Amino acid sequence: MREQLSIIPKPVSVKYNEGFFKSESLPDIIKKECAQEQFGADTDKVFEAYRLIIEKDRITAEAPADAGMHHCMETFRQLTLSGFKDGVLTLPCAEITDYPRFSWRGFMLDCSRYFYSVLFIKNLLDVLSLHHINRFHWHLTDDQGWRFKVAEYPLLTEIGSLRKNYRIPDLPPSGGFYTEDEIRDVVNYASVRHIEVIPEVDLPGHASAILASYPEFGCTGGPYEVEERFGIFEDVLCAGNDRIFDLAEKVFDTLAGLFPSKWVHIGGDEVLYNRWEACPKCRSRLKELGLKRPAELQSWITFKLVQMLSEKHKTAIGWDEILGTSNETPNHGFGDDSCPDGARQLKLPKEAVVMSWRGDEGGIKAARLGHEVIMSPCTGGCYLDYKQQDSREEPGALYAKASTVLKSYSMDPVPALMNEKDAKYVIGGQGNLWSELIYAGKIAEYMIFPRMCAIAESLWTPKDKKDFDDFSKRLIIHRERLDNLGINQYRGSLC
Ligand code: ACM
Ligand code: ZN
Repeated sequence: MREQLSIIPKPVSVKYNEGFFKSESLPDIIKKECAQEQFGADTDKVFEAYRLIIEKDRITAEAPADAGMHHCMETFRQLTLSGFKDGVLTLPCAEITDYPRFSWRGFMLDCSRYFYSVLFIKNLLDVLSLHHINRFHWHLTDDQGWRFKVAEYPLLTEIGSLRKNYRIPDLPPSGGFYTEDEIRDVVNYASVRHIEVIPEVDLPGHASAILASYPEFGCTGGPYEVEERFGIFEDVLCAGNDRIFDLAEKVFDTLAGLFPSKWVHIGGDEVLYNRWEACPKCRSRLKELGLKRPAELQSWITFKLVQMLSEKHKTAIGWDEILGTSNETPNHGFGDDSCPDGARQLKLPKEAVVMSWRGDEGGIKAARLGHEVIMSPCTGGCYLDYKQQDSREEPGALYAKASTVLKSYSMDPVPALMNEKDAKYVIGGQGNLWSELIYAGKIAEYMIFPRMCAIAESLWTPKDKKDFDDFSKRLIIHRERLDNLGINQYRGSLC
């Protein structure tokens, strides 16, 4: 009989009482609305708070709001997924009080490099919800494929959603896009699970799929291809062409019609400036704006995109390059490309949210400047495309050292170097699965679990309650839950 509930992420408090609850079937739960005041949660997070009370003869769920009740039911679902032995659900009597540390507990899926099915995405959302993840960042465009229809720009999907396979040239181009109905289906499915879906369109770099569809948006005019290779490409949207903003306008309108979220992610990462340097249109744009370096054009573009979204009552999120102030980037294994940032002159509008991916520095800088920050450092266990062990037998990328479960567990959205005042700007963090090296949903699951379980705990559980040894023990039971859900999980060393 199990004496411990082994919940992941670890709740704020679990008090065990005498005795056990037993049932041969899924029990009814008594559900009650309760007052917010009894939780010590911050006001902006108390709507996610809940209490789960397991007594010998009954189970009671209490929450001040729907979101909390949902989390309560997900915690209970964990217990049912691991608690049946010989047909009897046996749970130790306990009182769980719980609420999150951060409001943004995210997961990003790259659906450009690999085109995941709606079925896969929905199943994944279901498992993420089990861990109280509440943001799904849907990476919908990149060099290797554009994944949703824009009525005014039909070639984005007719051409931009398909790519050739150069290794097997006889195969027809592959890829695809999500229909409006499919997108609404995903958004609704997520919403029922209190997960908000945030679409990303990566602008103005990672734009090969756009350029292959509409070569006039590039500096050279092409021809371009939907990229089959992976990396950082020189061809980006031409900063001297006003029509790129018409494109952005239509894209944002399309997204606004499909995604109720107040956020839209505009990418902004890894923009190379070689083409802008050489392009007469970009050079005259620079002159016209009184700017000096082509790099400054990125800040100008970002500024306009943030404003456009603001007019549509949406808040822009971007990768940390949108800060436009630093000029170094670590080498992520894509060769010797460096990604100098945009201008200092054009400040990023305050409302833009910065997603810190190259390390902690972007987030630290952004918070100091008063931007909300989401931490997702590739150096800090948040990149789920990295190998989990330094081994030839492990799938994934090995840019530096392997990114272990321990590394994901050690991730703290508030970096050690950040002061208390700036820490208030950190709204949370997320795990990202880039899919260059992922050729199937089952491989994706292997990369995601159990590292995402560890990240969920880093985002939900109070810092002083975290303990890796304790997590490792709970994970033994938690793995049974993932197994029962049919999830393919990595089972090697955790550290
Ligand atoms: C990124 O990993 N290029 C955001
Ligand atoms: Zn140009």
